[in-house]
Amino acid sequence: MKTRVTAGDETKHVGSTSWRAALVDRQNEQWLRLREHGEQRRQHLSERATGVLADAIQWLAELPEHSIHAVVTDPPYGIVEYETKNHVKLRAGRGGVWRIPPSFDGAKRQPLPRFTVLSQEEISALYNFFGALAYGLNRALVPGGHVFLASNPLLSTMTFHAFQRAGFEKRGELIRLVQTLRGGDRPKGAEREFSEVSMMARSCWEPWGIFRKPFKGTAADNLRTWGTGGLRRISDDEPFKDVITCSPTRGVERQIAPHPSLKPQRFLRQVVRAALPLGIGIVYDPFAGSHSTLAAADRLGYLSIGTERDAKYFALGCKAFARLRALDARS
Ligand SMILES: C[S@@+](CC[C@H](N)C(=O)[O-])C[C@H]1O[C@@H](n2cnc3c(N)ncnc32)[C@H](O)[C@@H]1O
Repeated sequence: MKTRVTAGDETKHVGSTSWRAALVDRQNEQWLRLREHGEQRRQHLSERATGVLADAIQWLAELPEHSIHAVVTDPPYGIVEYETKNHVKLRAGRGGVWRIPPSFDGAKRQPLPRFTVLSQEEISALYNFFGALAYGLNRALVPGGHVFLASNPLLSTMTFHAFQRAGFEKRGELIRLVQTLRGGDRPKGAEREFSEVSMMARSCWEPWGIFRKPFKGTAADNLRTWGTGGLRRISDDEPFKDVITCSPTRGVERQIAPHPSLKPQRFLRQVVRAALPLGIGIVYDPFAGSHSTLAAADRLGYLSIGTERDAKYFALGCKAFARLRALDARS
């Protein structure tokens, strides 16, 4: 029998129906429970999106097994940059791990964290933090659920390994081609003397680890049972690909959501879409910041939930969600 079911932003003709209908029913029941889970403050941003003011590790620890279907997140890369001591300095506009890149064209630059200054202890703490996150996510995800984890070339070895150690399969890396102002500078205080030297390569890409919770049996069985295990194709002719060119977040988005690590809607919508192979399920962002992942998911017709620990960013995200969602992000 042929029928039509709603899968994300698109309505699709499908062959066999009963397992799809069962998946959608289960997703809807799970969603009602999940969005009310925990005692923390929350905001239902729409029928399909909820933000929770909570520490991700704590919230995950109390989450029942098999509660979510995919994770798309941009974590604090080095942890220390979002610790109170450095964040107070960022908000005060001076010092700490955050720096303002040199301006060569008179334009005002966004602060960027300096990960080259991390100590051995900070790197160990980073590994432990990502280990705790990965264990929590591995329990909360359904079998075959994917994680897209943003990182940075200086730290990705450590954070990706923590995910593999926690039991995730590494399924590749997504490369976002983006020109940032990280690296490329001449030696500090001796710029003229060593005008031909860069201290490190100017970064032109951002790695995103792609991980999957292992499953038993065939991919087809897992897709029918859980709706997960693969990635959603761009179209019948085009698979999801592991390189996306996307320029830095546009000024209009930064005005809507002035978060120091705001990711662009154009990029997030492509990644979030791929994370649910059938468009059925719940996407979780542990480090929701300005709720940009949730806005992307909602725009695609997906269900999504996010946790954010910082009350100021949580409030900013609640305000920004609808406008980020409404953006035309094709350009
Ligand atoms: C890199 S930013 C994410 C920004 C987001 N991608 C956006 O576009 O707005 C990381 C966020 O994680 C939050 N955070 C840090 N540690 C956290 C934790 N343990 N639980 C929840 N949120 C946390 C920070 O306050 C920050 O807003």
